[in-house]
Amino acid sequence: MKIGFLQFAPTRLDSIRNLSLIQSAIAGSTFDLLVLPELANSGYLFEDRAELEMVSEPADGKGIFLSGLISLAAEQHACIVCGFAERAPEGLFNSAAAVTENGVLALYRKVHLFYTEKDFFLPGNLGFPVFEFQSTCIGMMICFDWIFPEAARTLALQGAQVICHPANLVLPYCQAAMVTRSLENAVFSITANRTGSETTARQSLHFTGSSQIIGPKGQKLASAPEEGTNLKIVEINPEQASDKFFTPRNNLFRDRRPDTYSL
Ligand code: ACM
Repeated sequence: MKIGFLQFAPTRLDSIRNLSLIQSAIAGSTFDLLVLPELANSGYLFEDRAELEMVSEPADGKGIFLSGLISLAAEQHACIVCGFAERAPEGLFNSAAAVTENGVLALYRKVHLFYTEKDFFLPGNLGFPVFEFQSTCIGMMICFDWIFPEAARTLALQGAQVICHPANLVLPYCQAAMVTRSLENAVFSITANRTGSETTARQSLHFTGSSQIIGPKGQKLASAPEEGTNLKIVEINPEQASDKFFTPRNNLFRDRRPDTYSL
């Protein structure tokens, strides 16, 4: 399976421009599973709720951004996982959609909101779903979910072999932590981070790039620089993530002792 990430700097409030940047950046490449950054349609910072409402779209795959991604996925019978600002009847979510030629295959709504995201987004209410694509079990989590080991563990316990991790990272700790998230669960992880900076009246942020693909033994299979648009695709055997033995007598899942984890 050819898996990869596209790292880039989304333009704030401009879904059409972001879609066309994605289209040109992946032109000529081939992949089965591609991960794009968090909030790739909208950018990360918002002056007010009206801005976010304007740029967000429903998760039905009929909006400008997701329908464009569905067409891009269809061109190579691939799956694209992308962070996007979702407008739902109950409110706004920081979401990730997995899209294929058949439309939106799976939806995740960010469970652990970071800092001022709490002013705009509702916390995710769909748990941590996994889905199947090309006989591979795939899970999604978003950015700050990395600091809660329960997120990756919940996905892995449901059988996820590859964890897709759209991100808009501003702190320097995640890339190292995801090596551990992959190792402790024996899964592949794809962190697709963004680059660049954003400024609103209230806040200015710089995003850290350094997207990466990590293997089930914690090995770095691909990585991007801190700046700039970067596409990386590697070939993996997802079955390697089905072996949970750490030593012949230690199985990462069977040796768990949930009876002792009461808090
Ligand atoms: C983050 O969760 N976007 C830092």
